[in-house]
Amino acid sequence: MAVVEGVKKGGGKLLAPLIAVAPVVIVVALWIVEPFDTSPIPDYDPEIRHVREQNLRVARDLERVAEGLVMGPEDLAYDAQEGAVYVTTADGWVKKVEGVAYGGEIAVRNLSFTGGRPLGVALGPSKEVFVCDAYKGLLKVADNKVEVLSDGAEGVKFKLADGLDVASDGTIYFTDASYKYDLDHHMLDIFEGRPHGRLLRFEPSTGETHVLLKGLYFANGLALSPNQDFLVYCESTLARCVKYWIEGDKKGSTEIFIDKLPGVPDNIRYDGEGRFWIGLATGKTAFFNIMLKYAVVRKAMVIVSKFIMLPEFQMNGGVLAVSLTGEAIALYSDPELSKVTGGIKIGKYLYIGYLDKSYIGRLDLKKYAASAH
Ligand SMILES: *[C@@H]1O[C@H](CO)[C@@H](O)[C@H](O)[C@H]1NC(C)=O
Repeated sequence: MAVVEGVKKGGGKLLAPLIAVAPVVIVVALWIVEPFDTSPIPDYDPEIRHVREQNLRVARDLERVAEGLVMGPEDLAYDAQEGAVYVTTADGWVKKVEGVAYGGEIAVRNLSFTGGRPLGVALGPSKEVFVCDAYKGLLKVADNKVEVLSDGAEGVKFKLADGLDVASDGTIYFTDASYKYDLDHHMLDIFEGRPHGRLLRFEPSTGETHVLLKGLYFANGLALSPNQDFLVYCESTLARCVKYWIEGDKKGSTEIFIDKLPGVPDNIRYDGEGRFWIGLATGKTAFFNIMLKYAVVRKAMVIVSKFIMLPEFQMNGGVLAVSLTGEAIALYSDPELSKVTGGIKIGKYLYIGYLDKSYIGRLDLKKYAASAH
């Protein structure tokens, strides 16, 4: 009894401090060994601007269109003549969803299999279908045909071709979100906090790709203005969208289009009626703000994610309607919405794309008073 007691006591003297410092030692060791280097993001602004009309519970009014037939419809391009939308899906397809515009029967047709992950989709002046595929680059697709137009610029390959729009002269403006991380690792780009994105222009007459801007923080969606005198691209990490002048005195220069967004912007689309629609993958939660503010938190998350799966921290996603001058007009969001990639307004409906759902969302805007009209 006495012996056991003695051992217990003696061991306790040594063990207690060891047990106490062990976690600290392990954490410090993991920290030192971890090569992933995160950077502060000086331009990140956690503030949220006022949105004139806030619809914060839209999920209950959402219909599911083409459910089970479109896996992760990331971007939507509207063909007004046919009343159809082209969608890009997670299983590598570009599909055409017919019957969306006139409330007719919905039919889904497979157009083309890219073999990658098509994201942005836009129609050319002769209704050619152009796609930014995260793994393949800028593509032109037609019935079961896929042509790679561009997969790099200035000697740097794209790692995550993302958003695009096509001018009436056929010039294609597009983004590469990151030259460093691919789609599977895109969160690492945000965790790292350095700008690896580029804004690009593809010239169909020469087949050349020009770099318009580099050093962008996850350059995502892109949309041309109705006059095509400027375009707007969204920088997801910074929760803002930036105007890039294509014509006029300010040609080639940039200015903030809208910042302090209530969430993380993804695609942006113009509706032909004076509004841009910006998909918000997640709302700007307190956790998101802390993560973006502190480089150490991001590094800690990278380390922790090697041992356990990080909890899902995306919520309060939705779509934001913005005027041509960058004024936030109406927000359609819900705590239940996440990984919303974009929205396009067709008639009275807002069609919503997602990274991971098996349907296109449809919201009847008439149910919301003064809805961005
Ligand atoms: C259409 O695409 C789906 C995958 O999304 C595939 O399962 C199906 O076989 C395709 N249909 C045709 C006719 O190719």
